Amino acid sequence: MADEKLVGDIIEKIKRLYGNEGPFPQIKREVIQEYVMDEAIARVEAIGRMRSSTFTIDRYNRNAYENVIRWIHNDPEMVCMDPRSRETVRGNLKAGLFISGNTGSGKSWLLDIMSVYARICGFRMKIGDRIMSLSWTNKRTDRICDEYSDGNSIMQYKDRKIIGFQDLGSEPVEAMNMGTRLEVMRSILESRSDDDTLVTIISSNMRPCTEKFMNRYGERVDSRIASMCNYIELSGPDRRRTGYLDVVK
Ligand SMILES: Nc1ncnc2c1ncn2[C@@H]1O[C@H](COP(=O)(O)OP(=O)(O)O)[C@@H](O)[C@H]1O
Ligand SMILES: [Mg+2]
Repeated sequence: MADEKLVGDIIEKIKRLYGNEGPFPQIKREVIQEYVMDEAIARVEAIGRMRSSTFTIDRYNRNAYENVIRWIHNDPEMVCMDPRSRETVRGNLKAGLFISGNTGSGKSWLLDIMSVYARICGFRMKIGDRIMSLSWTNKRTDRICDEYSDGNSIMQYKDRKIIGFQDLGSEPVEAMNMGTRLEVMRSILESRSDDDTLVTIISSNMRPCTEKFMNRYGERVDSRIASMCNYIELSGPDRRRTGYLDVVK
């Protein structure tokens, strides 16, 4: 009995000090709303066709688009891939996304198009006591390095609650500012991986949990990336190549 009172007292004190969310804020997603996958795909295709009349969701990218749709809708049916074992695993709806695939497989377009879809869906998420919309801006990693070299702070990329990094791995390993060399993306990802209230969305030609990825971004990032992000692979030939449309049909 005395123990219960003791625990009750301390919880009360903590709530008074930190608010109802407590000292360790977490991500909360909105309760799932009914949706029909085929209708969602039709909406995504309509957005894609605003960019190019040849935009298609086909057998190579359908799985990726569907699972990003599930992620946006907070649908527990979402699945992704374990980057180590390559097995299909249940998605973590509080983690971000890591879209991997060969050059031209459509990774950057997927992030661009799905960020528009997320924005029009208007879902919200709660991070600690802050309510924010589930939408994000995509930033190319080489541009972030240029910003650093131009003398700008990269703090916003470490702190922003939800952000998309396009083409991770295409940026120079180091950037220089006033004589200081910095592995800009490694530093940003290290910092974000320490905070599980941040949502990180990535497109990359690289595969995490490989020696190449670990050498580039360090052990700390490599070991945390699988829990930070839902890993999704895009397959298929280079969509930039002419004749691609003949290949898929
Ligand atoms: N779903 C799609 N349907 C048709 N064409 C696409 C699609 N996604 C991408 N593309 C085409 O392929 C090109 C490469 O896509 P992009 O997303 O830049 O590839 P990645 O980032 O994987 O290298 C785009 O410029 C576009 O012309
Ligand atoms: Mg790209």
